[in-house]
Amino acid sequence: MDHTLWYKDAVFYEVYVRAFHDSDNDGHGDLRGMIEKLDYVKELGVDCLWLLPIYPSPLKDDGYDISNFYDVHPTYGTLDDFEELLEEAHKRGLRVIMDLVLNHTSNMHPWFRAARANRNSIFRDYYVWSDSSLKYRDARIIFLDTEESNWGWDKKSEQYYWHRFYASQPDLNYDNPAVQAEMLKVMSFWLDLGVDGFRADAVPYLFEREGTGCENLPETHAYLKEIRKFINERYPGRILLAEANQWPEDIIPYFGDGGDEFHMGFHFPIMPRIFMSIRKEHRTQLVWIMGRTPALTETNQWCMFLRNHDELTLEMVTEEEREWMWQEFAPDPRMRLNLGIRRRLAPLLDNDHRKIMLANSLLFSLPGSPVIYYGDEIGMGDNISLHDRNGVRTPMQWDDSSSAGFSKAPSQSVYLPIIDDDTYGRKQVNVKSQQDNPYSLWHSVRNMIHARKKYPAFGRGDFQWIDCENEAIAAYVRTYEDQVIYVFNNMSASEHVISIPMQDIPGPLTDILTGKDYYIQDQTLTLKMSPRQYLWLV
Ligand code: NOJ
Repeated sequence: MDHTLWYKDAVFYEVYVRAFHDSDNDGHGDLRGMIEKLDYVKELGVDCLWLLPIYPSPLKDDGYDISNFYDVHPTYGTLDDFEELLEEAHKRGLRVIMDLVLNHTSNMHPWFRAARANRNSIFRDYYVWSDSSLKYRDARIIFLDTEESNWGWDKKSEQYYWHRFYASQPDLNYDNPAVQAEMLKVMSFWLDLGVDGFRADAVPYLFEREGTGCENLPETHAYLKEIRKFINERYPGRILLAEANQWPEDIIPYFGDGGDEFHMGFHFPIMPRIFMSIRKEHRTQLVWIMGRTPALTETNQWCMFLRNHDELTLEMVTEEEREWMWQEFAPDPRMRLNLGIRRRLAPLLDNDHRKIMLANSLLFSLPGSPVIYYGDEIGMGDNISLHDRNGVRTPMQWDDSSSAGFSKAPSQSVYLPIIDDDTYGRKQVNVKSQQDNPYSLWHSVRNMIHARKKYPAFGRGDFQWIDCENEAIAAYVRTYEDQVIYVFNNMSASEHVISIPMQDIPGPLTDILTGKDYYIQDQTLTLKMSPRQYLWLV
């Protein structure tokens, strides 16, 4: 097996360092706290951590507003701590990728300060300026709930500056070769420290051109190919993961021609359809989106996810579907944000263990590498009374002590309130009690991860639907070399008996997850599937 393709077999774990574990009891998670919890992550079965931005930042967008690309936010620790984290992670066979924010900086970044202070500064051209706010008017607004325009007025220098996200995040000007070179330098800095790659933020928006939506432009792809070339030549084995919230046909170009752009890309459009299909109790939406998902080349891979640190985005659904999703999953308007839903996995699935595990069965068995969002492995709740996306970024709940084992700081100094409602509070939901209970969600997730890891077919195999008349069943086969795995998911809340024609084979098929055997008789596999049951048969 080709081990340079490690990311195809890997299980990823997305961590917000500030939320994970606080080692110095100032109320904010930090890198040393992360080091203390590496064994936990390893035990869960994770192969690669993805760290949300840890750079110095005024934290107007939780670190996606960077004020220095070459350091660590002092609240999270020091560069030495970061190096130790890498060392300790690598010792345990864990890899670490980090967020790389190419598109913009904070308005507090020295480049932007210099740029606005003096129109003749060499940094002026690091950003995109205009006398008119009517330029590039075909570009949509992404943060619809807060921003009225992609142009912000700079009083100081009396021109508009371009920003695709918050007004406090001016976009960098990629038409300037100096900016292109700077960002390669930034990458080198972290790669030299030993990071295993980057989750590249907001990649569709790097360039602007009049008369276009300023997304997915050829110029953007050309620069991204430069980045890949740079990695291939100087840091082989490190990976690039694209955050491009686009339809499959628009994501495909991010994998490049013959694999010369990103190694991996998030599969945004399938994510809401997993929720839809569970709610509608049939596979139709999944079949539709898989039909629109082109096969990738051998070195490329989808990154699959259910939830992340942002709102559950509904950009990749029709307007009608969006309305339906909002009604079903976000009945309270406070649960909605921009074009999405700001809730966590467990509350979205009614805190129903079977539904959550069914969603995980899809996450872990459809083509791609899965990403788990911290806390979802124990079914953490959310807090919709908090601002923006903070409600899904609350402290990790380690035990039932007053600060949930997250920190020893008094609760008023913890960066966000720990969830404390009757269903998802630290007493009801925490790592310790779930580790002690073999029937907990944590154990189910852990078993699933460990089962998946024994079979490369999940990460590398071909995918094909199994012909099954009953639409409540999502059944497919994953094949890699001589490995064949039949996956059956009963999407519905009722029992279903299905019969699948199959060639007789001498021995039984065995469920990887439970060890139970299933026999093919008279060239037919007959399965009685209980509500929301899933089977992974080898
Ligand atoms: C995407 C990130 O996931 C989100 O959290 C952030 O606000 C925007 N990019 C802007 O960087």
